Amino acid sequence: MQQMIRNYSNLRSFIGNPVSFLDGVYSEGEKIKKMRIGPGEFILIFCPEKAREVLLDKSGSYRQNRNIFKKIIPLTGANGLVQQNGYKSKISRLSARSIFSNKAISRSKGIIEKNCDSVFSKMKSNQFVDPLKIMTELVLRNALEVFLGVEDREFQKEIGIVFLELHILCGQRMLNPFSLPLKIPTKKNMRILALSKLLKSKIQKHIKRQRIFPEGSILFSFKDDEHLVDHCMTFLFAGHETTASSLAFSLLLLAKNNQYQNIESIRNDDYLLSLYKESLRLYPPAYILVREVQCDNYLGEIPLKKGDHLIIGLKQILNSQSYFQSAGCFKPKRFMVKDREIDKLFFPFGLGAKSCIGEHLAYIEAKIILKNFLKRFEVSTQDPEIKFSPMVTLHPDSGQMIKLKGRTDVR
Ligand code: HEM
Repeated sequence: MQQMIRNYSNLRSFIGNPVSFLDGVYSEGEKIKKMRIGPGEFILIFCPEKAREVLLDKSGSYRQNRNIFKKIIPLTGANGLVQQNGYKSKISRLSARSIFSNKAISRSKGIIEKNCDSVFSKMKSNQFVDPLKIMTELVLRNALEVFLGVEDREFQKEIGIVFLELHILCGQRMLNPFSLPLKIPTKKNMRILALSKLLKSKIQKHIKRQRIFPEGSILFSFKDDEHLVDHCMTFLFAGHETTASSLAFSLLLLAKNNQYQNIESIRNDDYLLSLYKESLRLYPPAYILVREVQCDNYLGEIPLKKGDHLIIGLKQILNSQSYFQSAGCFKPKRFMVKDREIDKLFFPFGLGAKSCIGEHLAYIEAKIILKNFLKRFEVSTQDPEIKFSPMVTLHPDSGQMIKLKGRTDVR
């Protein structure tokens, strides 16, 4: 009985705040720990070597956790890339590669630059802004235009409103293991289904209206795929919140660490990339990676049974003093030098067959956005700490304002 109470208390703590829960387990010192969380057996992994084994070397023995991914079907479609496994996933990943052709990347860069201009030119010196709000608006706009070719600003806003509400509701479902199946007509479930239908119909309407699918868009990559609409939904979902959150974290970190805002440095792409990587290290948007065991086997000494769940504590690994010197400090320099060791330890985009397909684009987008922003403004904050919440991804709490100071020394 006592054991059962402990299992459910674990579950309550995990749902309440997965990051604090995992921090607590990690502080006990074990790099792999088997424990019950509610009714399920979980293996918590806090060591990069074992994470690599699960995601990369023996990836055939594990798959993405169906229970979690099923809950975001209204947002990603049932057949979008993120929902696929095995052969289907391989084929879709190959098709998606055309978003990285030279022509496609140069189109995407143009779109991102233009949208930066439009969003940042409205902001003024001495204004206080919420970095999460600004980055969400900008990155969603980029995603709609890059992936779907939606240029009409009004239509962007219409889709954006539907998408963002659906995103919040699905995020809540994803974190709640007791959420009721969608076929049970609760008020929330009905809202989710209605929004999902609306999002699909808006994308379908847009596809019908488009005469030419721009190269680099998802419409172009998957034009002959029966699941085109689902892929569009998937890329909107996967390609916006992670990038927006990580950029908001970058601005908050810079506001706290003004010494990194030197204008000469900001003109250097490698420098910007190291700033961005260091914010991904401190605040990885995908703070956990979850897998389900496919067949009985061993992870190190630990026996695994089919159906067990693995949680890789990515934030704990990337924040660990055992792997990164002065792990709690913002030290972009660690990414300025070529270091094979760090490359092995740093995997905010996952690894292996289901790793992030947008990593390259995320880096390009981040560099353009940070450069355009920091060329115009220096940022500062009075807040001593950065507050964040783990939802579908880790994001800074909204309402943490930073103060802008217009630069006078920029031509
Ligand atoms: C900072 C930005 C980003 C981060 C940290 C990030 C992180 C991740 C991670 C960790 C995964 C793998 C999840 C797992 O193994 O269970 C993933 C998958 C994915 N990401 Fe990203 N991502 C980012 C940006 C993007 C962008 C810009 C795109 C769009 C091009 C994108 C598209 C995808 C897709 C489609 C998948 C699913 C791949 C599959 O299931 O085969 N991501 N992302």
